[in-house]
Amino acid sequence: MNKIKLGIIGLGAIGNRMLKPIKEQYADQLEVVAVCDANETLAKEIAEEFSIPHYFKSHQELLKNAELDIVYIAVPPKYHEQVALDTIEAGVHILCEKPLANSIEEANSMLQAVENTSLIHMMNFPLNYQAQMYKMMSLIQSGYIGSIRRIDLNLHFPEWPRFWQKNSWVGKREQGGYILEVGAHWIQFIQKNFGQINFIQGEVSYPEDETLCENGVNAKLVLDNGINVYLDGISQVPGPERVELVVHGTEGSLFLENWGNLKGGKVGQPYESISTEGIHVGTLFDHLIESLRGNTANLYDFTVGYNVQVVLEAFKNPELPNGIYLVNLYK
Ligand SMILES: NC(=O)c1ccc[n+]([C@@H]2O[C@H](COP(=O)([O-])OP(=O)(O)OC[C@H]3O[C@@H](n4cnc5c(N)ncnc54)[C@H](O)[C@@H]3O)[C@@H](O)[C@H]2O)c1
Repeated sequence: MNKIKLGIIGLGAIGNRMLKPIKEQYADQLEVVAVCDANETLAKEIAEEFSIPHYFKSHQELLKNAELDIVYIAVPPKYHEQVALDTIEAGVHILCEKPLANSIEEANSMLQAVENTSLIHMMNFPLNYQAQMYKMMSLIQSGYIGSIRRIDLNLHFPEWPRFWQKNSWVGKREQGGYILEVGAHWIQFIQKNFGQINFIQGEVSYPEDETLCENGVNAKLVLDNGINVYLDGISQVPGPERVELVVHGTEGSLFLENWGNLKGGKVGQPYESISTEGIHVGTLFDHLIESLRGNTANLYDFTVGYNVQVVLEAFKNPELPNGIYLVNLYK
């Protein structure tokens, strides 16, 4: 079977991190034929380190000169739109980093551009490929926690940007912050598993320096089934990073600690770790490869990304303290 030809656009924290597993675990299916970064020296170094035949300093050059089936877009959010539009024009499939874009207009233009094509337009929402998430949802469906009372989403960062992502934009208001960067994952997870977010109300706090991203957020997100999600976010605090989702029910609670350690407990009892042994859901790349081979797979596409963007944009809206209805904004 022919190998799928992949190009990577953006070789920073995440583009770089993805390269190793792609080269090691999927070498029999995927071939990274070209990489590209605005920092040409970096592109050259990475091409040499991973024995990648071609490197470029712009995505236009990459699309023009490399023979590709798919590109992975891993540039900062405000560049997603242009890179995606040019990739769609070139007739190449896309795996795009989240958030989909840096505004609802950009997200819409990307979605419209891809809608009438047969191209794959997958988003990198990795929570969907974790066994813990499947286990949590199956426990909820089997009645382990009874009826859902509320969901708590905690995003606590001792330092933002985190040590591994100290770049020029993720700490800035223009396109950074943890609501966009980390919240996007959980908003998608909540929308997929618990219900559409119909209404949102809350407060975002910012440091005095107007160029810097938020340092706190408190919000209530009301789902279409009446369940409330309480978001509690803060940065520049002591203690460990806490990224956790807790689903409280009438009979117990389930707790995704530190992104994905699943714990559960019955009312009044301590939490205990819950094993996910025996659950095989396939990785994001397993599903992407299946889809590129024309088989059924579990993909989260630009429409999913657009609907996450609707919620992300609400956090930037000055009407947030009064509350914003989102129902009519979804695709
Ligand atoms: N899915 C995840 O878990 C996850 C984690 C981190 C970042 N991300 C997302 O991945 C994307 C990249 O984040 P990052 O932390 O790697 O950023 P980064 O700043 O570390 O890396 C971005 C790279 O893109 C290059 N670049 C910038 N503009 C370019 C352009 N127009 N053309 C070519 N190269 C360009 C930069 O030189 C840099 O090397 C963002 O959308 C971010 O939100 C996702």
